[in-house]
Amino acid sequence: MWKKLMQILTKSTPVEKEEDVMLDHNYDGIKELDNVLPPWWLWLFYFTILFAVIYLIRYHVTGDWTSDKEYAEEMAIAKVDVDEYLKKSGLNIDASTVVLKDDAATLDAGLQIFTKNCIPCHRPDGGGLVGPNLTDNKWIHGGEINNLFTTISNGVPEKGMQTWKGTLSAQQIQQVASYILVKLKGTNPQNPFAYPGDPK
Ligand code: HEC
Repeated sequence: MWKKLMQILTKSTPVEKEEDVMLDHNYDGIKELDNVLPPWWLWLFYFTILFAVIYLIRYHVTGDWTSDKEYAEEMAIAKVDVDEYLKKSGLNIDASTVVLKDDAATLDAGLQIFTKNCIPCHRPDGGGLVGPNLTDNKWIHGGEINNLFTTISNGVPEKGMQTWKGTLSAQQIQQVASYILVKLKGTNPQNPFAYPGDPK
């Protein structure tokens, strides 16, 4: 069985018949046999020719498969992953995509952030102290969620409102802005601060 297989793959000439394929030249006693090319090698060779032809046509003629295309496909797959990750982690929020959220988890997180960072200037009730009253309807920089997101992210450093985007994540800014608009706005705290810059 093994021998037969080897015979099919190599088509080698048995030793007894070597005389038949012996060539008549002789290099210093070294003789040469005119063996046929072994089929295993020939098949491999044909296969590489076929491969090269198909490769050449696909890569250079029809252009339906190129490394540029493969790269673009890989990048598209990676982009889906990255987008998903950003969405999950809340990092893809910016001023144009931010939405007002009023679920308990957001408002609670917003309260924590506000208490930790904002009350020295805006007071716990949002009535204002150094910074303006955040509970009324008068906004210097606009009262939509997008406006608050921008104001809090970039701050107004020349007026004493710091830039928060290095300290708070985009998601945290969304949370604190939502907290202001849902929980503080419209609450009429006592002695609200008349911030000089507030629009009339
Ligand atoms: C050091 C004081 C200070 C701190 C701390 C501070 N702010 Fe301010 N904030 C200000 C001042 C001053 C302004 C007014 C800027 C201006 O005149 O344009 C302001 C303005 C704002 C405005 C815009 C109000 C409007 O009328 O458009 C928002 C919103 C705001 N702050 C939110 C926050 C939040 C949220 C935090 C905490 C993460 C915070 N601020 C922390 C001082 C502060």
